[in-house]
Amino acid sequence: MVADPHSYWDASQPVVTHLDWAVAVDFSRRVLDCTAVLSIEGAGVLDLDTRNLDIASVTALPEAVPVPYEMGTVDAVLGQRLRLVVPPGTLALRIVYATRPESTALQWLEPAQTADGTHSFVYSQCQTIHARSMVPVPDSPSARITVHATFDVPEGYTAVMAGTPGQISHGGRRFSYDVTQSIPAYLLAFAVGALVSERIGPRSLVWAEPSMLASAAWEFAEVETILQAAESVMGDFPWQRADLIVMPPSYPYGGMENPQLIYLTPTLVTGDRSLVNVLSHEVIHHWTGDMVTCASLEHFWLNEGFTVFGERKVTELLEGREVAELQAAIGRDALDDDLRYLQDTPELTSLRLHLEGVHPDVSSSWVALEKGNLFLRAIEESVGEQRFAAFLRDYLDRFRFRSLTGEEFVAFAEAELPGAVDYEEWLHGTGLPDGTPVSRSRLLDRIRSLGNTLPEAALAGSWGATEWQVYLGQLQSPVDTDLLSALDDAYSLTASRNSDVLAIWLHLGLLSGYGPAVPASVGLLATVGRLKYLKVLYHALADRPDTHQLALDTFAAHRHRYHPIAVTVVSARLHPA
Ligand code: BES
Ligand code: ZN
Repeated sequence: MVADPHSYWDASQPVVTHLDWAVAVDFSRRVLDCTAVLSIEGAGVLDLDTRNLDIASVTALPEAVPVPYEMGTVDAVLGQRLRLVVPPGTLALRIVYATRPESTALQWLEPAQTADGTHSFVYSQCQTIHARSMVPVPDSPSARITVHATFDVPEGYTAVMAGTPGQISHGGRRFSYDVTQSIPAYLLAFAVGALVSERIGPRSLVWAEPSMLASAAWEFAEVETILQAAESVMGDFPWQRADLIVMPPSYPYGGMENPQLIYLTPTLVTGDRSLVNVLSHEVIHHWTGDMVTCASLEHFWLNEGFTVFGERKVTELLEGREVAELQAAIGRDALDDDLRYLQDTPELTSLRLHLEGVHPDVSSSWVALEKGNLFLRAIEESVGEQRFAAFLRDYLDRFRFRSLTGEEFVAFAEAELPGAVDYEEWLHGTGLPDGTPVSRSRLLDRIRSLGNTLPEAALAGSWGATEWQVYLGQLQSPVDTDLLSALDDAYSLTASRNSDVLAIWLHLGLLSGYGPAVPASVGLLATVGRLKYLKVLYHALADRPDTHQLALDTFAAHRHRYHPIAVTVVSARLHPA
């Protein structure tokens, strides 16, 4: 049995198989008043994970006997253990409790913090270890549950959840959902706001605030094409629906693979579909992450590495090999940045992590995504695309709706594709092994041959977001500020509407002492809460003596608008331990 260092529960204890969850949303108190009925197999000591929950009562069913429980001391990483003894014959535990306004899973937004400014909004983000601050459960990805949930909301609000929608009752104020496939608790996800939807495919709605709906529906109209490309790589879609929701601007991630309700940052709605690869990424997660799941955050690369691999296959099918290779090169640039940043903690550059006492939000980096992808690419290069494609299907079959460790993956790969690569080195080694696959494309070579020179309009005039990111990524920093000014004059990069391009451009500008990058960075940090941008821009601002204080002041001014996870991660960067 492998213990999860981020959960008090372990597999020797009674098992929770199902959650029946009743939630009443109270915007004025910023509290969810909840009853959780956990179906239980087994008896004896049971440790549930909690954080910032006020437990009112625990009762064993069917006899309705009160169960004494004990709350442990608060641990900064793990939260608080809820220990109880499950009496023999128990079928379920009923726990009545409330969340606190400080729940780390929940972001409560004032109307002014939403796109439309008319209604309050609340949503959950449970990955990595925040389900426990919303519901008392075994909050380890090695534990899987099915779910039935109801949400009572004020009039005029809609509750959406990552699951299959059921009845709407109580005069339109109670929404019910089911998750019939077993999921780890971190995939519990819901949002409540003034949400409306539009059908964009046979199995897909997009949800958004009214003012965003039409542009979102256009931006993500290719969802069914993406799903079908994904199915051709991964096999039949293992869920019923593939709905999407455009989150408020402070959402901390680009996207999140909540099954049947993909969360997407509004920064993807660029008007030119140039960032839809994030949607492909979250779609692929429905197989790798949601269906086959890492057993703990120490094996997070199994979720993310496989997903980046699948995402690039979808990109290759839909946009061609050249684009997929360019995106791989952009990913490699981000990885190289993180490898430099992690120089003093090389253990965080291994795929297999050791995270006892370490918060997985703070340790998470591009290593899981991009080095994980490179590991799989290395195996593919060694055995050939066809054999690897068959291996991928075998892997998905073998671990369907199960959670596994990196060691289990390596044992499986060693048996199926013996000696394809140095598996141990890839799993446990730091940095990148010799012979790491590299991107190859004519366009990539052409862009990289520019070096630190201004590209001519005949070439760059037709560049999209992908080409710009490759070009900016290959510039040697610090870049001469004359070149940066010339680029801005010719191509208006400081005004880019593609936030991925903008963030890379501003980062380069800050590293190079380019004046206009400072106010523009502060502007982005004031409007968007996506961690991918917050991490690099705050770090670059804080690193320069002339803008160090500005970084602290900007964070102080806007931290109340960021999701609690983003606040923790940025604080760790601004004030290293
Ligand atoms: N599952 C991740 C988001 C995540 C990562 C949540 C780490 C908690 C901890 C999601 O699938 C993801 O990888 N998002 C990326 C975009 C992706 C296209 C690389 C992001 O947020 O930028
Ligand atoms: Zn991902």
